[in-house]
Amino acid sequence: MIDPRAEQFLSYKTGLKRELHLPVWLNVMYVHVAFACIAMASGLLNFSNRLLEKKRNLHRMNGYVYVLSVFLVVLTSGYMVPYATGGKLSSMGFNELNIIWPLITITALVHIRKKRIVRHRNWMIRSYAFCFTNLAIHLLTFVGQQGFGLDYVTSYTCGVYGSIVLLLLIPELIIRASSAPKDAQRRFRNL
Ligand code: HEM
Repeated sequence: MIDPRAEQFLSYKTGLKRELHLPVWLNVMYVHVAFACIAMASGLLNFSNRLLEKKRNLHRMNGYVYVLSVFLVVLTSGYMVPYATGGKLSSMGFNELNIIWPLITITALVHIRKKRIVRHRNWMIRSYAFCFTNLAIHLLTFVGQQGFGLDYVTSYTCGVYGSIVLLLLIPELIIRASSAPKDAQRRFRNL
């Protein structure tokens, strides 16, 4: 919203190997952001125990909205990857994200299809963490620039890899720290 045409962000893209068609890139980016927001909202809603207990069908439908949104974020990401700020190194990081996120999400889906509720919940926590990819990248880019005096492109590339590590690590800490698995087992035994 602050920079709808991403002018500042695009100004760091120098020496691109492929020509960037700005109107196409911008429209793909809008779709990317729109589905990223839907994934964030629908994912958050589905962590509500009340919703799961009272409206299981809504939880299920909303879950499929989340999965679809994840795939559309990844699909649009696939288009933007070759033009990533930081060149090939950043692109490789984004490609890893494009593989990891859907795999984790599908794992969560497979667990619930087999009625493994606690595992489903834990894998959904792991999946949902990736909704914060953009936030983590920009936060780490900021730290790299302000804290370590790195230039924008280097900080951004470090941000891409740093975010992968952070977004894999933080959910593990949340899963370990939360006593919810036992709770959930008890609470959902009869579902
Ligand atoms: C779910 C939350 C996400 C949001 C809100 C989001 C938002 C954005 C935005 C606003 C941009 C435009 C550039 C910028 O200002 O950063 C962008 C670029 C991009 N995003 Fe996402 N994104 C999300 C998740 C992801 C994920 C999970 C991936 C990879 C699987 C991804 C891959 C990309 C790529 C490849 C670009 C282009 C980067 C570049 O040109 O350097 N995004 N995203």
